[in-house]
Amino acid sequence: MKLKIALLPGDGIGPEVTAQAVKCLQAVEETFGHQFTFTRALVGASAISAKGDPLPEETLELCKNSDAVLFGAIGDPKYDKDPDAKIRPEQGLLRLRKALDLFSNIRPVKIFPTIIKKSTLKEKVIKGTDFIIYRELTGGIYFGEKKLSDDGTKASDLCEYSEHEISRIAHLAFKAAKSRRKKLTLVDKANVLESSRLWRKVVSKIGESYPEVELEFLFVDNAAMQLILNPKQFDIILSDNMFGDILSDVGGVIGGSIGLLPSASVGENNAMFEPIHGSYPQAAGKNIANPIASILSAAMLLNHFGLDEESQSVVNAIYKSMKKNIVTPDLDVKSKYSTDEVGEFIAGNIVDSDNFQSINKENIGLGKSTII
Ligand code: IPM
Ligand code: MG
Repeated sequence: MKLKIALLPGDGIGPEVTAQAVKCLQAVEETFGHQFTFTRALVGASAISAKGDPLPEETLELCKNSDAVLFGAIGDPKYDKDPDAKIRPEQGLLRLRKALDLFSNIRPVKIFPTIIKKSTLKEKVIKGTDFIIYRELTGGIYFGEKKLSDDGTKASDLCEYSEHEISRIAHLAFKAAKSRRKKLTLVDKANVLESSRLWRKVVSKIGESYPEVELEFLFVDNAAMQLILNPKQFDIILSDNMFGDILSDVGGVIGGSIGLLPSASVGENNAMFEPIHGSYPQAAGKNIANPIASILSAAMLLNHFGLDEESQSVVNAIYKSMKKNIVTPDLDVKSKYSTDEVGEFIAGNIVDSDNFQSINKENIGLGKSTII
C-alpha cells in the first residue's frame, strides 16, 4: 500500500517521540512491502517562531493532501504563563482538527500486563480494563464564541452543539460498541447544561437503531469517580469535546502512564494520529520521554487503513519491550533506556517470529519459498 503521511512533530517532546513512530512505520514498510512517504511540516510554538502562525498555510495544505497526519505534541510554557498572548500554539491543533473536520476522537484505554503492578491503582481494580473514549472533537466549548469584556474583567466561552454534530459521532460510537461488549455510556452534565440535554435526546433516539447495545447515562462528575472506582464497567464512553478531554487524562492514570495512550481523530476525508500526552516541556531534548503513545498512534494509523496484521506486529513489539523492561523511566524509575533506544528496540522487533510465519506462508502460497 502507498500512503502519504504528513509529519507534524510540533513542540517539546513531540519531535523525539514521533521520530520513533516513524522508525516503526519504516520497519513495517520494509517488512510488509509497503511504500510510505513522510513529509514534515511545522505546527504549534515552533511554527509561531518560524512563521508567526501556529498552523501555516503550507502545513494545512500538506495535511489536506495527505492520506494521514502523524502528530507529535504542541505547547510551550512561554504561552501558558502569558494569558494575554493572542497567538497560542494550541490554536494550531484546534484549527487543524476543525479544518480537516476530524469530528471523532478515538482514545482506547487498555492495560499492558507488565504495567499493572506499577500503577497507583490496585491491581484488582484495573486488571482487565478495556474501554474506548469517543470524544467529539470539533464542536462544543472549544469552538463556541469566546468573549472578553473591554475592561478585561468578564469572559465567556459558548458551548454549542447541533443535532448533526452529535449524531455523526454517536453513530460511530454505537457501531464500535456493537462490535465489542455492546455497552455505550454517554457522559454529560444533563442535570445542568442544555447542550447535555440535547446530547441525551439525540443519543437516545439513535440508540433505538442499535437495540443490541445497552445505553447508559452518567453525569461527568460521577463518571470521573466511576472510572477510578471500577474502570472495567466501561466499554465505549461517548462524550462532548471538553468532558472527553478531561476523562482521557483520567484514562491515562488507569492505563499506567499517559505516555502509553494513543489516539486517532477521524473525519469523512481525513485522519490524524497523535499521542494523548502533551508537549512535556520539562523533558524536551532529554531523550527520556516515552515514545509508546506515539508508536501506538502509528499502529492505529495502520489499522485505519486496514493494515491490521502490520498494526499487530507493532503492538507485539511494544509488548516485547515491556516484557524485557526496555522502557523509559516513567515506567520504571531505575530504567536507563532512552526514548531513542526504546524506539530502536521496538522498530527492530517488528519482524517477530509470528510475522515471519505469515510472510513465509504468503511466500509459500506464491511458490517463492519452501521455508516454514
Ligand atoms: C488533547 C489536548 C488538547 C485538547 C490541547 C493541547 C489543546 O489536551 O488533545 O487532549 O484539549 O484537545
Ligand atoms: Mg487533553
